[in-house]
Amino acid sequence: WRQNTEPPCEVALSSALEQDMQRLDEELWISGSKLKDIVKRFREELEEGLQKEGQNISMNVTWVHSLPRGDETGEYLTLDLGGTNLRVCKVTLHGASSTSPSTKSSLDQEKYSIPDSLKTGTADDLWTYIAEKLADFVKSKGLDREYTTQNPMPLGFTFSYPATQDRIDHAILQTWTKGFDIKGVEGEDVASQLREKMEERNLPVELVCVINDTVGAMIASAYNDPETIIGAIFGTGCNAAYMSSISKIKKLPPPQNDPRLRTKAENGQAKIDKSDEKMAINCEYGAFDNARKILPLTKYDETIDAESPRPGEQAFEKLSAGLYLGEIFRLILVDLQARGLIFSSASTSSSPLHTPYILDTGDLSAIENDVSPDLNTIRTTLKQKLNLNATRQEAEVARAIAQMVATRGARLCACGIAAICGMEGISKGHVAADGSVANKHPSFKQRWATALGEVLGWRERGEGVGDREDPIVITSAEDGSGVGCAIIAAMEMARRKEKS
Ligand code: GLC
Repeated sequence: WRQNTEPPCEVALSSALEQDMQRLDEELWISGSKLKDIVKRFREELEEGLQKEGQNISMNVTWVHSLPRGDETGEYLTLDLGGTNLRVCKVTLHGASSTSPSTKSSLDQEKYSIPDSLKTGTADDLWTYIAEKLADFVKSKGLDREYTTQNPMPLGFTFSYPATQDRIDHAILQTWTKGFDIKGVEGEDVASQLREKMEERNLPVELVCVINDTVGAMIASAYNDPETIIGAIFGTGCNAAYMSSISKIKKLPPPQNDPRLRTKAENGQAKIDKSDEKMAINCEYGAFDNARKILPLTKYDETIDAESPRPGEQAFEKLSAGLYLGEIFRLILVDLQARGLIFSSASTSSSPLHTPYILDTGDLSAIENDVSPDLNTIRTTLKQKLNLNATRQEAEVARAIAQMVATRGARLCACGIAAICGMEGISKGHVAADGSVANKHPSFKQRWATALGEVLGWRERGEGVGDREDPIVITSAEDGSGVGCAIIAAMEMARRKEKS
């Protein structure tokens, strides 16, 4: 393990601790050949999801039929319900009149941190909360003077959970993920639940699309960057979207039998709409390997799963997403401490070390990135968050563990993307990525790129990322759940006009 951590741990450890660190390294390290096995199975599960409904990876059809042209314009409202915040935005798209990405759209927004009680409350509380925030926003921006219920402002809703869509303006929640557990929403149409609350308040707004954050990231990025191939979120959750040919989505009826994919019948002859040959797929691959056949699970992963609101679900996400990384790290510390290997003076059960989900990705990355001689950041983080006074040895051990956990996560994240690329025969392009892990964890992108290169065969282990220009690279996604959602609303409005 001393070779796998950077910088290597320099202090001498007791032989018991040394042995345990060795064990952890073996359990958490995923070799290049294991990555390849995982990708092979991953691709099979993605393909199964396109064949039939009800497969483990759901491969949800989204009714987003193309990447944007880049000239979409107009003013839209967007709502974004992610894992942590609710965001309400007014987005103005300037389209082709503006050439620089930074001026192609402008945005006015309010952000609210979702109260924990809502995450385990009822559907009624959730939609009332969202409709109230939306009503406040509409009023404070004066939109109720510009729009009426007869001439409403188009609203897009980024709902970043797995949902079945028969049309773009409705979405039936399959299951809550990311620790949410709100009663009365699973199996229901979130669009109609929200509409009901908006109607009660007479809001001058019309909900025109419900989208996933991964699709938003892909669309927002493609608005500026034609090399975008995939939208990915490496954040609280972990997921990706890409454009598929309709012909590969075997679970859809053939286009000639599906009125949603036809233009109006001409002389009684239904014509397949050319523009409908593609469809964005929201993979929902956080569920990969729920059968637990291939992922190398540790006892810490088993605990996380058993104590989550939905045991057995989101197996892949629970190893790789930001919501869980800090918690895996905490469970390892608890284990080492219980066995007297570290923090032996902190044995009281009231220490925050025993509080689930007390550490987030930001803490983990602060711990991992402190290479200062006195390890001050590590010590301060452990003190402030866990009330632990760490010795130099404990600080170094904590850093090494943080690194092992985050490295495993990043290497796994590369597998989902490699599987999509393999399935679609994509050999180059940009993976537009967003989310707290991608943005706040400085080593993530490099580790991800190294693993992707190992799997797709353009890099040997140990070769640096800067050594060559990779054919598939990660780029920072543009604001998918705000701007991306607005662009999809614009495309949908244009489509409605064309079809009518
Ligand atoms: C979870 C959700 C998925 C979302 C991802 C990233 O995996 O199920 O819909 O895209 O988190 O936010």
